[in-house]
Amino acid sequence: MSIHPLPPPREPTGLGKLPVARWFLFIGAVAGVTFAAGSVVIMVLLGQAMELQPRPEMTAQLGRLNVALIVLFAVLLACGAGLALIVRHAVLKPIAQLTEQVRTVAGGDFDHTLHVDRPAELAELSSHIDSMRARVVSAWRVAADQADELRRSNGELEQFAYVASHDLQEPLRKVASFTQMLEQRYGPQLDERAKQYIHYAVDGAKRMQLLINDLLDFSRVGRVTGEKSAVESGAALDTALENLSATIEDTGTTVTRDDLPAVTANRLQLTQLFQNLIENAVKFRSEEPPRIHIGAVRAGAMWEFSCADNGIGVEQKYADRIFLIFQRLHPRDVYPGTGIGLALCRKIVEYHGGQLWLDGSTPGQGATFRWTLPAAGDDDD
Ligand SMILES: Nc1ncnc2c1ncn2[C@@H]1O[C@H](COP(=O)(O)OP(=O)(O)OP(=O)(O)O)[C@@H](O)[C@H]1O
Ligand SMILES: [Mg+2]
Repeated sequence: MSIHPLPPPREPTGLGKLPVARWFLFIGAVAGVTFAAGSVVIMVLLGQAMELQPRPEMTAQLGRLNVALIVLFAVLLACGAGLALIVRHAVLKPIAQLTEQVRTVAGGDFDHTLHVDRPAELAELSSHIDSMRARVVSAWRVAADQADELRRSNGELEQFAYVASHDLQEPLRKVASFTQMLEQRYGPQLDERAKQYIHYAVDGAKRMQLLINDLLDFSRVGRVTGEKSAVESGAALDTALENLSATIEDTGTTVTRDDLPAVTANRLQLTQLFQNLIENAVKFRSEEPPRIHIGAVRAGAMWEFSCADNGIGVEQKYADRIFLIFQRLHPRDVYPGTGIGLALCRKIVEYHGGQLWLDGSTPGQGATFRWTLPAAGDDDD
């Protein structure tokens, strides 16, 4: 995990701008000057009283008072100096020491121990801060280790999905084609039941081929064909509609759209995304001819797209489940498919740093899917 440079400390406000040492100096100076001025005033007043009625005992007493005042002043001065020294050594220095240690930790040296041994209050504070540091650091290390582990196992899983689906294609192709050859060559010798069995075998193999191809597409997102650039989403939608032109025509589907923006994306994947969502909107249509609207609104640095249809809709309780791989809500003979389309769409969107979700759908009243994609930045233009 990277460490950002330390931000500058926040400026103190109001009277807090003055360091504590200056406060002490200021108050000490005011007290000293006041005491000295008070002593001088007392001595002057007493001197004036003496001049009015001079007496030898009074002069001696005045002399002693003078000495007492001077001694008192000296003691006060010594106490002030002593207090300043104590504050400096027992408070300000340890605070500066702790500040330095905290700055070192905040600067990225998270193993640096925080400790000052006096005064007691600061020693306690530093030990609390240090145990907090130790706990945060250990939790952070555990999280970093887990993230590494997750990345590694995700990589392995993707690799496994890719290799398994890739290597399974060939033997499967053989099974399908030899079973078909069996039917062609020995068809006349086979009874109806045998032909039905062959039909099931071929159908199963074809379905598995479809699954494997979908799985390959899924595991390819982010591994192969991953380059991103500024792409006109309208153009990607056009390609998707072209690919689906036969279905769109057969079903009398109408597709409308907002002004679609340029986004930072992989063109092929963006087309796949539109294609899967529109394919679903057409496949899960109601009695009426499908009407699909593709919208886009700006949301900060992203564009939020939507695909709204007037089909059979999805019950809200399935809003998360439909995005899981191979999860379908209907039997295959009613609505064909492998159940990978939305999982693939989500993977594509997340690969681009966005999110895809089902936005409120009531059965019978159509479904609206929304997703975000990063707006094409200046460097992509
Ligand atoms: N526009 C929609 N309207 C109603 N239900 C939908 C819509 N889109 C998806 N669903 C539901 O979500 C399920 C998962 O969709 P997904 O696209 O992943 O699979 P699929 O279309 O069944 O198969 P595939 O896309 O792999 O051919 C669907 O089986 C369907 O029940
Ligand atoms: Mg689908």
